[in-house]
Amino acid sequence: MLEALKVVRDPDLHRDIVSLGFIKDLKVEGGRVAFTIELTTPACPVKDQMRDQARAAVMQISGVTAVDVRVREAVDPAAGRAAVPGVKNIIAVGAGKGGVGKTTVAVNLALALSQCGSKVGIIDGDIYGPNVPIMLGLKAELTTDGQKIIPAEKFGLQVISMAFLTGDDAPIIWRGPMLHGALQQFFSEVRWGNLDYLIIDLPPGTGDVALSLSQIVSVAGAIVVTTPQQVALADSRRALAMYKKLNIPTLGLVENMSYFVCPNCSHEADIFGHGGGERMASDLGVPFLGRVPIYQPIREGSDRGVPLLIGDPDSPAAHALIEVAERAAAQVSIASYSRPTIPLTVVR
Ligand SMILES: Nc1ncnc2c1ncn2[C@@H]1O[C@H](COP(=O)(O)OP(=O)(O)O)[C@@H](O)[C@H]1O
Ligand SMILES: [Mg+2]
Repeated sequence: MLEALKVVRDPDLHRDIVSLGFIKDLKVEGGRVAFTIELTTPACPVKDQMRDQARAAVMQISGVTAVDVRVREAVDPAAGRAAVPGVKNIIAVGAGKGGVGKTTVAVNLALALSQCGSKVGIIDGDIYGPNVPIMLGLKAELTTDGQKIIPAEKFGLQVISMAFLTGDDAPIIWRGPMLHGALQQFFSEVRWGNLDYLIIDLPPGTGDVALSLSQIVSVAGAIVVTTPQQVALADSRRALAMYKKLNIPTLGLVENMSYFVCPNCSHEADIFGHGGGERMASDLGVPFLGRVPIYQPIREGSDRGVPLLIGDPDSPAAHALIEVAERAAAQVSIASYSRPTIPLTVVR
């Protein structure tokens, strides 16, 4: 039995899953075989492929009539980072600086993925400006089921925000360890319900939250939001360099407020020049996920708590955001295929 399973190899580790010790709970009853494959990373496409290959390999053994393969993800002790219960893929959304539309992209990305049929959650990790609840028109206080924190829900998204922990106008002063602790709780103490994607709106710049995040969980990848001006691009470069240092794969760059479409005559104007984001992405060898135009209803909707993908889902700007989401999801699959399995260098 185990001999047959040796044909299944882990594409990251380049070894067969038997010698890696991934096969657990092997049971044989007559012609019925059951076992579990325990993976070290929540890499979804690899998981399905392994399950299918393992089933096929065992089915070929004579006398076997049925194969029941389970796949579960175990904590990766080498990296010291836990898979988050109830969450498949964590996507961080960051930016070199504030005001470039990071939260706008994070919220609409979450909605676009959700509208495609995925289960999606969002963590508002922007400790300095936790705006996700405002953009979603959500006022909530966290509740628990006695054991864990229950995320708030809006537009089908599960939502946790730093804002739920602090008053609206209270100054938010976090010291490193507190911050790390709060973030850790958002992963381990929240009852996330079977999420395909958990989006994290990070604070702008390069700092503590991203560092903590990289130490606490395995992030599928980061999206960097930029605007086309040279100054914003320079800051984005730094953000990209930080993710690289933290071993968080870059899913790609989004250029927001990229161009202006005149609502009267549909004339498109590249007020900030054209192609800056695209050029930078190609210079740095990261994917370009798309350009989102300046569109007044985005701003109006976010002030009213009705995001574009809810309020104006057929607009060209909404389509641009949907395309960004599709490309990001594709990059998540690619990143989880090629994720190194012993990645952790702690940066201090
Ligand atoms: N493409 C866009 N068109 C028009 N307004 C936008 C666009 N993207 C963002 N905004 C507006 O710009 C402001 C800053 O966006 P926000 O997402 O809060 O940025 P950040 O999270 O990077 O600080 C918000 O008022 C938002 O509604
Ligand atoms: Mg923001």
